[in-house]
Amino acid sequence: MIRVWVTGGAGFIGSHLVRYLLETQPSLEIHTVDALTYAGNLHNLSDVLDHPRHKFHRIDIADRESIEPLWSQTKPKVIFHLAAESHVDRSILSPLDFVHTNIVGTATLLEVARRHWNGCSDVLFYQVSTDEVYGSLEGEEYFTEQSPYHPRSPYAASKAAADHLVRAYGHTYGIPYLISNCGNNYGPYQFPEKLIPLVITHLMERKPIPVYGNGLNVRDWIHVLDHVRAIALLAERGKRGRTYLIGAKNPRPNLEVVKLLCTLYDEMTGSRGSEALIRFVKDRPGHDFRYAIQPSTHLFELGWRPQVPFEEGLRQTIQWYLTHKEWLEAVRSGEYQRYYQLQYGDRF
Ligand SMILES: NC(=O)c1ccc[n+]([C@@H]2O[C@H](COP(=O)([O-])OP(=O)(O)OC[C@H]3O[C@@H](n4cnc5c(N)ncnc54)[C@H](O)[C@@H]3O)[C@@H](O)[C@H]2O)c1
Repeated sequence: MIRVWVTGGAGFIGSHLVRYLLETQPSLEIHTVDALTYAGNLHNLSDVLDHPRHKFHRIDIADRESIEPLWSQTKPKVIFHLAAESHVDRSILSPLDFVHTNIVGTATLLEVARRHWNGCSDVLFYQVSTDEVYGSLEGEEYFTEQSPYHPRSPYAASKAAADHLVRAYGHTYGIPYLISNCGNNYGPYQFPEKLIPLVITHLMERKPIPVYGNGLNVRDWIHVLDHVRAIALLAERGKRGRTYLIGAKNPRPNLEVVKLLCTLYDEMTGSRGSEALIRFVKDRPGHDFRYAIQPSTHLFELGWRPQVPFEEGLRQTIQWYLTHKEWLEAVRSGEYQRYYQLQYGDRF
């Protein structure tokens, strides 16, 4: 058995990755390492918690005293590093949480890796990162592998710092690594603070749908399973020490996405006039205008293609939220209600 860690495996993308690896790679024993913050949730893993090749460990990745013994005990060969504070708006409210997990947490994992993987070549530190490290585009441009880092939110800066640390440890200590930067994911199990589940849950509850500014900011959307399939493929066959861009060439203005969700929701549920719920609210400070990704050519050469067309993925996602109301109840704790009030309370 090859032992693998998935940090942040109880979060949105991490839980899909854990499930996908268990389904497709019978030689792997998966250890989910997750602190279970507001965004992490054992409900996301309920179908695999008792899987014989999966073990869950509740640990803060920045806590070396806990990471070190788990490493000695499990001796992982691959670290899929997804644990992070991941929401830009929260990074504007409390940047230090992002420094703690995204920077100190990543550095802690790298330190422990450096000690245990000294001279090993058959290991991999896989850093899952974001297109937000590249900053904001104007016009019709795309980010490429050559785009310089220009992070502009505390979230983006903390992920950029983490990416730099991974490269620096690779260069200085010879840790085999790979980084992929991906655009906005959507799909089941996404915490409802993010745009697509926020809109769907507000449609379900017939609540006003907040859209920042004029709604023209552009994000590049990809279904979470297409992202996860790319990660698994790159871990197996991607070149070590390289950075890959993962995207489905699907950049869209936020307002277009929100309107599309309204139309699909009305079609699927028989509701009417959902677009009337849209409210333009005060913009996010420092809101980047456009993210768009030119996916890495080598990813296509390896045979990866995005498989989920956007409209179909949105329909499936709406259907999932409609049929998982208990999950929603469970994840939307008092903490989320407090956060929502703080973030949007005086914006309407
Ligand atoms: N969601 C996206 O659109 C997107 C796009 C590109 C890259 N990413 C990156 O992918 C990764 C996963 O994103 P996500 O959307 O699934 O995030 P998420 O917020 O849904 O999940 C993050 C997980 O990390 C855990 N976590 C947070 N702090 C921790 C700590 N100190 N120690 C251990 N665990 C901790 C949380 O409990 C949670 O389970 C992140 O690194 C993010 O930057 C996300």
